[in-house]
Amino acid sequence: MRFHFNAVARLCAVSILASLPVASSHAQQTLDPEIESLIARMTVEEKAGQLTLYSDAIRLSPPDVNPETHERTAKLMLEEIRAGRLTGLFQAVGANVRDIQKVAVEQSRLHIPLIFGADVLHGLRTIFPIPLGEAASFEPELAQRTARAAAIESTASGLHWTYAPMVDIARDQRWGRVAEGAGEDVYLGSLFAAARVRGFQGSSLAMPDSLLATPKHFAAYGAVSGGLEYNTVDISLQSLWETHLPPFKAAFDAGALSTMSSFNEINGVPASADPVLQTQILRDMWHFKGFVVSDYTAVEELVAHGFAADGREAAKLAFLAGVDMSMQSGLYVKYLPELVASGEVPMTRLDASVRRVLAVKKAMGLFKDPYRSMDPKREQRDIGTREIIALARESARRSIVLLRNEKDLLPLPKSGKRIALIGPFAQGQDNLFGPWSMFGDRNRAVDVASGMRAAMADPKLLRVVEGCDIEGPITGGIEAAVSVAHESDIVVLALGESQNMSGEAQSRTQIVIPPAQQALAEAVLATGKPVVVLLRNGRALALEGAVRDANALLVTWFLGSQTGPAIADVLFGDFNPSGRLPVSFPFEAGQQPWFYNHKRTGRPELVGGVQEFKTRYRGTGNAALYPFGHGLSFTSFHYDKLALSAKELAWNGELKVRARITNTGKRDGEEVVQLYLHDRVASLTRPVRELKGFRKLFIPAGASADVEFTLTRADLEFIGADLQRRAEPGEFDVWIAPSSAGGLHDSFTLDR
Ligand code: NOJ
Repeated sequence: MRFHFNAVARLCAVSILASLPVASSHAQQTLDPEIESLIARMTVEEKAGQLTLYSDAIRLSPPDVNPETHERTAKLMLEEIRAGRLTGLFQAVGANVRDIQKVAVEQSRLHIPLIFGADVLHGLRTIFPIPLGEAASFEPELAQRTARAAAIESTASGLHWTYAPMVDIARDQRWGRVAEGAGEDVYLGSLFAAARVRGFQGSSLAMPDSLLATPKHFAAYGAVSGGLEYNTVDISLQSLWETHLPPFKAAFDAGALSTMSSFNEINGVPASADPVLQTQILRDMWHFKGFVVSDYTAVEELVAHGFAADGREAAKLAFLAGVDMSMQSGLYVKYLPELVASGEVPMTRLDASVRRVLAVKKAMGLFKDPYRSMDPKREQRDIGTREIIALARESARRSIVLLRNEKDLLPLPKSGKRIALIGPFAQGQDNLFGPWSMFGDRNRAVDVASGMRAAMADPKLLRVVEGCDIEGPITGGIEAAVSVAHESDIVVLALGESQNMSGEAQSRTQIVIPPAQQALAEAVLATGKPVVVLLRNGRALALEGAVRDANALLVTWFLGSQTGPAIADVLFGDFNPSGRLPVSFPFEAGQQPWFYNHKRTGRPELVGGVQEFKTRYRGTGNAALYPFGHGLSFTSFHYDKLALSAKELAWNGELKVRARITNTGKRDGEEVVQLYLHDRVASLTRPVRELKGFRKLFIPAGASADVEFTLTRADLEFIGADLQRRAEPGEFDVWIAPSSAGGLHDSFTLDR
């Protein structure tokens, strides 16, 4: 027996599990007669088939020179469907999937419908900002709306299921998948996780435009060592419980009915074979009723991990751990029948997994209408509608973060100035969408140059020069750029990362602007013209030289289909930027992982003063250039009148924390007012600050707004040495702040 009590103790406090009913998830389930009758009639092969998922080789022909091979594979796949040996397909879209569904429904013995999935992370045809960018809005309800729109387009295009939201907390910007999630903070990440689930699924899975959500990757994938993709995760149980699991819990509480087991190991056990994660936490503790799908080939990767000797053992370990469905490995349909026959896998376990999958198919209405999502009329009508395009623009401009605006260079005038738009991201349909956008409609995407021209009174005053490629110089590029800069009044530099520098398998060691672009920026800044930098990025970057020192700096992530109009809205002042960083921009790449909610250490860096023998790098302080939560506006906000309702919070009481925020500038604007806490002394050391609340307020020019946060003991809790949530009496710092650095400060005590 490979897993015994020690394995459980490894990830969970003994005390937590001791109180749990054994196999509660199975025992408590009320059985559905329709599903039970199906299960009773299914062969063991058909059961294993319901737990087997492949990417669609019928519609997706690989860019192959050998069409006969593809035809053969497609035929074989249809055979598998006919034989009931497949639960669904993924990664192909289009309402034209009806014929494939027909094979399952009309030609398979039990007529069980297929489920069709895809990676729809930030839009299907209309692409919204990458999730990291959208998190910068600090508006979970915006993410809920874009997820809803993505669900509408997806369910008009043959889909039932998305492998999203990605809810991994990512604190190392070298990791390429930072782009897919909500950044470094657990509180913000949890709100976005829940909002996206609500958006994708809508109010009921039975709605024809509901898209089943899959919070992923369960779990702690964001903690890969060194930010290296697929790498080992070696973390404390406290950070697992405190940082990496809460967004999943939030997503399940919001109703997500599937999840994806991650590629990584945690402390020696691959997540896709970990019964503590996939069964004990998920089912016994959290009562998750949905099903677990493995990540792509994650089951067979147990062999490469050195955790399973061969495919047979991999299937057995993953399945017994609680991974209900295997994506792409084919090992379940191959080995589960013989594992059941040998008694190594109990039939009751197989039935339980099948039951979960069928229950979700039923909840989605697939038994009633297997052809839901396959209406070509809806595909014509519901994609790229005026409302969806407007939402793409709205979400894109709300995702932009203004980092710097020297002498109020921005907003730019719409007339009377010659503007040079320079850089490899100035124009063209490439690199607008960001990672995971393979179904995006490139033809309807709007680049920066087009967006700016449309906003300018005289579009001829805009001149566009590439200057260099993304990763290399072009002959005469810098000279041409410098000469156009000289002939212009203002330069807008469009620089950054290509979309394939982030996303899966795109970890970078140097999170900087590629050298060729940096050289372009240096030459352009040296002209002395006012320079606005538009950063295109899928992660926080370490900004250097002319990029860092440009007069104005906007983080524009990958904004999607409406990149150009959204950027123009901000550049020319039709929209006052209100985004805040969901990830900290370090001074240097070598500071990674740097996140605002780090621990103090025994030698915290001093503010000013002597810095020797303190927690810092030689020559680089232990701070960020632009920390989490930072972002400017075209107006300014003044914080004052911090007031606590009391200096003590009673054990079961409440404490109000209030402040007044005044718009001291000349424009109306939105401010993200953030509340942070710090527990001064605890039985386990605590982060220097933790975000516990925020409000995004619209404040007209010259007006003030009062904010009030209510704290209770729950806000002061953390995961103790026994892995139980606990709050400890004592003193706490509290800030109401415009970012994770600075702000108004006070303190209070928690009394028992
Ligand atoms: C691997 C990725 O890790 C996962 O996020 C994705 O959903 C699957 N491939 C399917 O494309």
